Amino acid sequence: MLPSPPDYAAEYAHWQSDPHGWWAQAAGELVWDKPWDRVFDPAAGAFGQWFAGGRLNTCFNALDRHVDAGHGDRTALIWDSPMAGQVARFTYRQMRDRTARVAGALAALGVGMGDRVVIYMPMVPEAAIAMLACARLGAIHSVVFGGFAAAELAKRIEDAKPRVVVSASCGLEPGRVVAYKPLLDAAIGFSAHKPEACLILQRPQATAARVAGRDQDFAEAEAGATPHDCVPVLATDPLYILYTSGTTGKPKGIVRDVGGHAVALHHSIRMIYGLGHGDVFWTASDVGWVVGHSYIVYAPLLAGCTSVMYEGKSVGTPDAGAFWRVCAQHGVKVLFTAPTALRAIKQRDPDAALLAPHDMSAFQALYLAGERCDPPTAVWAADKLGVPVVDHWWQTETGWPITAGFSGLGLFPFKPGSGGRPCPGYDLQTLDDAGAVLPRGESGNLALRLPLPPGCAPTLWHNAEGYRRSYLADFPGWYRTGDAGLIDADGDVWVMGRTDDIINVAGHRLSTGQMEEILATHPDVAECAVVGARDAIKGQVPLGLVVLKAGSVRDEADMSRELVALVRDKIGPVAAFKTALVVPRLPKTRSGKILRASIRRLADGEPANPPPTIDDAAAIDEVAEVLGRPR
Ligand code: COA
Ligand code: AMP
Repeated sequence: MLPSPPDYAAEYAHWQSDPHGWWAQAAGELVWDKPWDRVFDPAAGAFGQWFAGGRLNTCFNALDRHVDAGHGDRTALIWDSPMAGQVARFTYRQMRDRTARVAGALAALGVGMGDRVVIYMPMVPEAAIAMLACARLGAIHSVVFGGFAAAELAKRIEDAKPRVVVSASCGLEPGRVVAYKPLLDAAIGFSAHKPEACLILQRPQATAARVAGRDQDFAEAEAGATPHDCVPVLATDPLYILYTSGTTGKPKGIVRDVGGHAVALHHSIRMIYGLGHGDVFWTASDVGWVVGHSYIVYAPLLAGCTSVMYEGKSVGTPDAGAFWRVCAQHGVKVLFTAPTALRAIKQRDPDAALLAPHDMSAFQALYLAGERCDPPTAVWAADKLGVPVVDHWWQTETGWPITAGFSGLGLFPFKPGSGGRPCPGYDLQTLDDAGAVLPRGESGNLALRLPLPPGCAPTLWHNAEGYRRSYLADFPGWYRTGDAGLIDADGDVWVMGRTDDIINVAGHRLSTGQMEEILATHPDVAECAVVGARDAIKGQVPLGLVVLKAGSVRDEADMSRELVALVRDKIGPVAAFKTALVVPRLPKTRSGKILRASIRRLADGEPANPPPTIDDAAAIDEVAEVLGRPR
C-alpha cells in the first residue's frame, strides 16, 4: 500500500475528528458582517445548513477585502483573447470600482436582494464583473453558456424569472462571429417570463440593434451609474443558480448558497491547488460552466490570486502552442483544463515542439477535470511538461472537487486514470445497489455520506422535492453522485462513468435523454436512441439512431441532415450532435427497453452483449451493419 502524504492524512483525520471546528477555522479567514449562530444546523434544509445565521458578502470578500488590505494594485484578472487579438489586465481596485458601478447600473434597473439576473455572455471580463455585481447586491445570477441555443436559454429565463438579462452583441468562435443578440431576442420571445431590461455589451466585431424600452448599452449604463456598496446577505441565501443537464430536457437549477460557497472555495485554493495571494491561476474553461464559476471567478479572487480568463481554444487560436504561450506570458503557476483540450494539443503536436520556445519556469502543476483523463494523455502531459498532473473529480452539484491530488498537502504518487483521494469534507464510499457499503476494490455507486460539505448545492431552484428525488432518495443518508467507480486499497478513487444517461462531450455535460426527446419530435421518427460513442478528442460524442414511422419514405441523408439541424437548433452547437443514422429497428430487451449499452459497445467497436432473444440478435446485426461494424 502506498503511504498517504502526512499532511493529507493528518488533515483528513483532523476534519473527520472535528468537522465543525475544521470548517469554522476555514470560515474565520473570511470577513463576516455577522458571525454564524451555528457552524452547522442539522435541522434545516435537505441535509442541514452551513453557517446558519451568519451574514457576509461574497463580492466584498473577493474584491473590496483585498483593496482594503492594501492590495488594490495587485492584478486580479488578466483577460487574454487570441480571438479579439487583445490582452487586458485589471487590478483589484479596478475590478472593485467597475463592479460597484455595474452593481449601481443593475440597481438602477430595479435589481435588489434575491432578484435574479441571467448572464448570457462570451468570455469577456464583463461576464465576471456582472457576476460579482450581482453578488454585491445580494442578487442571484444565472449564467448561461454561450454555446446553447435560444430554446435552452429560454428554458432558463422561464425558470429563473430574471428581472434583467446581461448579454453581449457577439461571441467569437474560430472562423465565425456568433451573434448573441438574435439568440437572446428569440429566447425572450419563446419564454413566458419577460425580463424588464437587458444590458447589452457592444463588441466591435458585431454590434447589435437595441429593442427600444428594454435594452440598454452596458458601457453607457456602467459609466452613468452610481457605485453601489456591498449588501450583506445571509450565508444561507442563494448566490447563484446554474442550470445543468439532468436526465430529461428540463435542466436542473443547481443552487449555490453564499456562505458555504465562499468558505469552501477560498479554502480549496490553498489545500488543493497550493496557491495563495498573488499566484497566477489559469482555468481554461468557460464562465458558463461550474468550473468557470468556481475557478475563473470566485475562488481565485476570494484568495487574492491573479486569475487568467482566456477567450480561445487549445488548438487553432492560432496553434497547439496557445496554452503554453499563455502560461509563459502571464507566469501561470497552475493550469486547470479539461482532458479534451490536451488531447487536441497532443494530436496536433505530439512531440510538444510548440512548448519548447516558452519559458515555463513559473509553471508548477496541471489540474484536469470535466471527465476522467485517459492514462495515455495524463502520462503524455506529465512527460512533456515535467510537472505533477492531477486529475480531480467533481460536479456542478458539488461546486468544488470531491476527490483530488493536493498541492497544498503533499501530492500522492502519480496514478494515471485515478481521480485522487477524497477532499477533507467529503466521506466518499462505494455502495451496492441496495445501499450497502462495498469493500475497497469493488466497483459500485459512488456516494457521499450526508451532510455534504459547505459549497455543495443545498437544493434545486424552486424544486426541493426534485433535489431529494434526484440525489437523496435512492440511498437514505447518502448523496448519490450518479457516477460509478471504485476506491482502491490505497484510497485512490477511480471514477469510471455515469450510471444515468448523462454523457460528457469535450468536458461538457449533456443529456442523451434530452436529445432523444428532440429527435422524437421529428414527424418521420417512430422511435430513437442516443448514446455516447467514444471519440479520440472529445471523449464522447452523441450518436443518434432513428427508426422511421411505418410508411415514411425518406432519403436517409436528408433525414440525417434534418435531425442534426434539429438538435443544433434546440440545444445548440455545444451538443456536437453530428451523426444521426436510420436503422430498421432498435434492439430491445424482452420488456421493451432499448439496449443502449449494446449500441454503444457496437459504436465503440466492441462486441455487443449477448442479445436476450434471437430477434434482438437480428436487430443488433442490423445496427452493426448501419454503423459499418458487422459482428
Ligand atoms: N458560443 C457559441 N458557440 C460555441 C461556444 C460559445 N461560447 N463554445 C463552443 N461553441 C461551438 C463551437 O463553435 C462548435 O461549433 P461547430 O459545431 O459549429 O464547430 C461547437 O460549439 C463545439 O465546440 P467545442 O466543444 O469547443 O469543440 P471545438 O471542436 O470547437 O473545439 C476543443 C475542440 C477540444 C479544442 C475544445 O472542445 C476544447 O478546448 N474544449 C475544452 C472544454 C472545456 O473547457 N470544458 C469545460 C469543462 S471543465
Ligand atoms: P459537470 O457537472 O458538468 O461538472 O459534470 C460532472 C460529471 O463529469 C461527473 O459526474 C463525472 O461524470 C464527470 N467528471 C468530471 N470530472 C471528472 C473526473 N476528473 N474524472 C471522472 N469523471 C469526471
